Amino acid sequence: MSYPYQIKSSEEYRSAYEASVSDPEGFWAGIAAHFSWRRKWDKVLEWNFSDPDVKWFTGGQLNITENCLDRHLAERGDQPAIIWEPNDPGEDYRILTYKELHFKVCQFAQVLKNNGAKKGDRVCIYMPMVPELAIAVLACARIGVIHSVVFGGFSAQSIADRIQDAGCTLVITADGAFRGNKDIPLKSVIDDALVQCPTIRRVIVLTRTRVPVSMIKGRDTWWEDEIRKVETQGNPACPAEVMDAEDMLFILYTSGSTGKPKGVVHTCAGYMVFANYSFVNVFQYQPGDVYFCTADIGWITGHSYIVYGPLSAGATTLLFEGIPTFPDAGRFWDIVDKFKVNILYTAPTAIRSLMGFGLDFVKNKDLSSLKVLGTVGEPINEEAWHWYHEQIGKGRCPIVDTWWQTETGGILISNLAGVTPGKPAHATLPLPGVQPLLVDEKGEELHGNNVSGNLCIKFPWPSIIRTTYGDHDRCRTTYFATYPGLYFTGDGALRDEQGNYRITGRVDDVLNVSGHRIGTAEVENAINMHTGVVESAVVGYPHDIKGQGIYAYVIFNGNKTDEASIRKDITQTVARIIGPIAKPDKIQLVSGLPKTRSGKIMRRILRKIAEGELQNLGDTSTLLDPAVVEEIKGGKL
Ligand code: WTA
Repeated sequence: MSYPYQIKSSEEYRSAYEASVSDPEGFWAGIAAHFSWRRKWDKVLEWNFSDPDVKWFTGGQLNITENCLDRHLAERGDQPAIIWEPNDPGEDYRILTYKELHFKVCQFAQVLKNNGAKKGDRVCIYMPMVPELAIAVLACARIGVIHSVVFGGFSAQSIADRIQDAGCTLVITADGAFRGNKDIPLKSVIDDALVQCPTIRRVIVLTRTRVPVSMIKGRDTWWEDEIRKVETQGNPACPAEVMDAEDMLFILYTSGSTGKPKGVVHTCAGYMVFANYSFVNVFQYQPGDVYFCTADIGWITGHSYIVYGPLSAGATTLLFEGIPTFPDAGRFWDIVDKFKVNILYTAPTAIRSLMGFGLDFVKNKDLSSLKVLGTVGEPINEEAWHWYHEQIGKGRCPIVDTWWQTETGGILISNLAGVTPGKPAHATLPLPGVQPLLVDEKGEELHGNNVSGNLCIKFPWPSIIRTTYGDHDRCRTTYFATYPGLYFTGDGALRDEQGNYRITGRVDDVLNVSGHRIGTAEVENAINMHTGVVESAVVGYPHDIKGQGIYAYVIFNGNKTDEASIRKDITQTVARIIGPIAKPDKIQLVSGLPKTRSGKIMRRILRKIAEGELQNLGDTSTLLDPAVVEEIKGGKL
């Protein structure tokens, strides 16, 4: 497979960019022509940002799995599609060629059909990082079932919320998951969730850890038994469902600044075209390269850059079940060495954490296969950037700092590896088709360079969010109403002398903890569920490894006096309601919160205190009770 649309020089980047702005429809039609369609589109783009209503390639029909699998069979059927490295380095790794992956996806798609799943149904996937997770995702797409993957670190309550919101009818899970030296009892978490989910008719359970599970008659069935049934049916061919370009492909829940997580919806054609285009260009993938993205498929990075982007490009994608520090902090480098990885894509949190373990874990590892390094999920500090560049890339490998979001479906701002220049801690320039701008508080565009403001995008790209599932108005108010006519990212950024973007972080009440998005309101709601809690306020603070840590101020009125056990109980409550990823790092018990006379919590003050800035708290004249601030300052953790 060659990529005629792969940009090869700075000049080509500039001309592609210009073409994408002057004639977006012609530009994207030219790229979309390289995919396999059942029916060509009638119209490339229809859009307005006020409803919002964005449609790409209307009239076109296709199936994304034919683009990810079938079309590669003739040319690269025997090449590895997925390399899987287990959690335990002593267990055998697995390789699935394109032919094998195609076969298994068709087989499992038939399992889904046998279990009553049909086009348009929603299916929840809660699985470990094993090849069967990718197979489950693709099998859904094969028959037009909308997948909603939930990351394995979420609690039963979070899963139940997501299943209910999407009205899922089927769950695909495993008995358990191995993560480092822990076994996570996935099926038992699902059982707890399903107490609240009457819409679920079937649960398909993969065997992974062999932990005992309860299988409910009439509802639960084993993955392996279902596969056997398909084998006795003689493995009927599972033709791909013909999908309209704008049919839903998946829902992925993400946190916002208010209320419950929202189901970000992506559709078939535009998402596929942009995931592929950005993958091929940002990473400069060459046929035969081994590409390793360390994300979990439960997040958007895994959807776009472990599954759909690489497979649609006929790439070899490496899937790792474990964690960077098990059995020791050299695990990533062992994997690079073992499989001769050429492209490595990871998160700043992982880099900072591994940096902290020192160079003993890097030396004696052969990293000479590496050509390109990437980062995603949060701003990368210069120190971590340089360590990554020098110690891992040995100064030879360009680093792509890729900025994007669940809602954008693919990378919007990044240098192109070895083609356009990188700059430490800067995402640099927009991809072709992406038109960013900075605005001030009032929404006035900030022109010129050396300015900072709120990051917006003024024109649709093919994988832009289409709606938030079941609540279109939430999509409009969250992203398209703050600055009418623009998509608002929720991020702040600055533009340097050369026009490079540097993302400075969220400007709303969303935290970015180890690259995971968590809403402060969500954490507060969870803390407030604890019986002894009267009120709470959650803010972020700078954390050396996680990027941001979670700092909770809690008014506690329960009957315990021992602070340590109160903190433990509150932490446990958050783990129950959201999941271990949202546990507060610090909990300060307070007698009151700084409020304005109208009762609004002054988070600005709490944020400053959490950051350790006790002197310059800014204007405190509107405070109802200034004494509270003094108390909080005194008790800072
Ligand atoms: C942040 C992850 C700085 C940003 C793909 C964004 C980044 C949020 C970068 C989206 C980057 C992502 N530099 N910040 N290269 N990439 N972010 O939806 O705040 O999990 O809004 O998508 O992560 O997180 P999400």
